Amino acid sequence: MQQRADQIRRDGHTVAFVPTMGYLHEGHVSLMKEARRQADRVILSIFVNPTQFGPNEDLDSYPRDPARDMALAEKAGVDLVFTPDRNTLYPGGYETYVIQTQLPEHLCGLSRPGHFRGVMTIVAKLFNIVKPHCAVFGQKDYQQLAVLRRMTADLNFDVRIIGAPTVRETDGLAMSSRNKYLSESQRTAAVCLFRSLDAARDLAEKGATESAALIKTATAAIEAAADTQIDYITICDPDTLEDVAVIDRPVLMAMAVRIGQTRLIDNMMLTPPA
Ligand code: PAJ
Repeated sequence: MQQRADQIRRDGHTVAFVPTMGYLHEGHVSLMKEARRQADRVILSIFVNPTQFGPNEDLDSYPRDPARDMALAEKAGVDLVFTPDRNTLYPGGYETYVIQTQLPEHLCGLSRPGHFRGVMTIVAKLFNIVKPHCAVFGQKDYQQLAVLRRMTADLNFDVRIIGAPTVRETDGLAMSSRNKYLSESQRTAAVCLFRSLDAARDLAEKGATESAALIKTATAAIEAAADTQIDYITICDPDTLEDVAVIDRPVLMAMAVRIGQTRLIDNMMLTPPA
């Protein structure tokens, strides 16, 4: 891959990179299309990165469908798909990781210790292997995007980071490879994340300013749906991810909710009236 990357650059091409863990859906496809607009070569990686999964998480059951992934990538105009294996990226004796001191201490970082260390490590490795000019990440994983922007700036990676909007099902549920785990009734319940965020955005646009009140309303809506357990619901500063009590500027509302055993995340910007 490094030799191919060197050749592509020697030939004068620009490279846009889309890292994924596979089991691709329309959300991933939108990133590939954005990448297509950003550069004349698009490289996709598919790698279920073990270092970002906790001991009780779904590493072994993470859904896979390589043949379908290849077909979707080709249709979206991807030029090259990089599918390394675990032992190549993490051979015996591997012992180097990327850490960050502040951003991972919020939101998902609190219930998934070590997760962002794993994400930063694999993305740093992939940047060194794929040597892209830019890389596209989804705003659905807002904290991941923030952490990776910070890492790229702090470690002087010569890669432009591009954020792309969340792609949703027709009822509003954010697309995710993990939606596959949901039973029919859980799938119905899962729309409560989007609905509660959408309702909060509506209230904020109409002038509601108390974060606590909006979080209370969202909590009630999610608890009313079947088989749900809230991990967190937060209204925070979109840059630092620190809690915000009064909505006097655009803020981020973010949540993680377990539907049965499946942990789903979603987020939305709340903007007060001008
Ligand atoms: P994965 O969950 O496969 O997601 C790959 C990329 O697709 C991420 O940038 C994610 O934010 C984006 N994405 C997922 N669902 C989306 C949606 N509904 N709309 C728009 N974009 C969406 O995120 C990872 O993999 C990994 O942590 C990775 C960055 C590859 C490192 O291992």
